[in-house]
Amino acid sequence: MNDLNVDSYKKLYSGKIRDVYEYDQQHLLIVTSDRISAFDFVFKEEVLGKGSLLNKMSIFWFKLTNGIIRNHYIDKKPKIDSNLISRSMLVKKTKVLPVEAIVRGHIAGSAWKSYQEHGSINGVQISPGLSEYDRFMEPIFTPSTKGNKDENISISKMKDMLGEEVSNKIIKASFDLYNFAYEYSKSRGIIIADTKFEFGLNDNNDLILIDEIFTPDCSRFLKLDADGSYDLDAFDKQYFRNYLLASNWNKNQIKIPSEIKKNLMNKYQIAYDLITKKV
Ligand SMILES: Nc1ncnc2c1ncn2[C@@H]1O[C@H](COP(=O)(O)OP(=O)(O)OP(=O)(O)O)[C@@H](O)[C@H]1O
Ligand SMILES: [Mg+2]
Repeated sequence: MNDLNVDSYKKLYSGKIRDVYEYDQQHLLIVTSDRISAFDFVFKEEVLGKGSLLNKMSIFWFKLTNGIIRNHYIDKKPKIDSNLISRSMLVKKTKVLPVEAIVRGHIAGSAWKSYQEHGSINGVQISPGLSEYDRFMEPIFTPSTKGNKDENISISKMKDMLGEEVSNKIIKASFDLYNFAYEYSKSRGIIIADTKFEFGLNDNNDLILIDEIFTPDCSRFLKLDADGSYDLDAFDKQYFRNYLLASNWNKNQIKIPSEIKKNLMNKYQIAYDLITKKV
């Protein structure tokens, strides 16, 4: 099922959703599969078309934001089976920095949990009175380590790990990217509550934006409804998570009803159409 038939390239990683191959000395080939995961569980069954949609979305954002910071995307068709082209991205190989650069404009997920428990996020005190999904006065930067276990760290810990100069560049680029994409998406009906970036260094030690950006897999997309409330399962995996919760799923492989797969694809498609439409 997952046989990508790209045997001529050496597979370097197989993540939950994406497979990374060594294309040549300077480049990697990232192939986004149709796999679906939820609650850290990868399902055997796939959602046809999902990989290509996620891949297209990331490419769209890389092209749109390359004036803000250099990124790894190479606008060239890789030499690969034609049925994989739409799911493949050719990228510049970099030395990955071991920090996930997370920017949050609205309070959600683990940040909401931490705020409720301690009144702080990544050790930084946040003013009281926020409700879940409220917008912060200013976006906040909450790094975590990248590895088997993602652990939230303070900005000063990040500076200890990466150095002051590179850390400051990452923080500035992350805010610039987030603020740009936030306004851009908002005018198209999508609120990017939070998002995650990864960065790497090229041979000249220049900072390069890598991995994927502003997809529903690395961001939390909310839909702003006419009454000012947020619709949480409009675009991203929350819809699928809700289905699993409602059906008392117990971490086993299941047959995903075709209706659910169809609805899920529709949601990704709507997000893509909104983001890429001309206004
Ligand atoms: N330009 C690049 N140079 C080097 N490594 C890259 C580049 N772009 C992405 N990567 C790495 O490729 C991998 C992409 O794999 P993927 O995100 O699917 O897996 P993962 O993050 O290890 O696991 P998962 O996302 O399933 O939790 C990541 O480890 C990412 O850091
Ligand atoms: Mg990843």
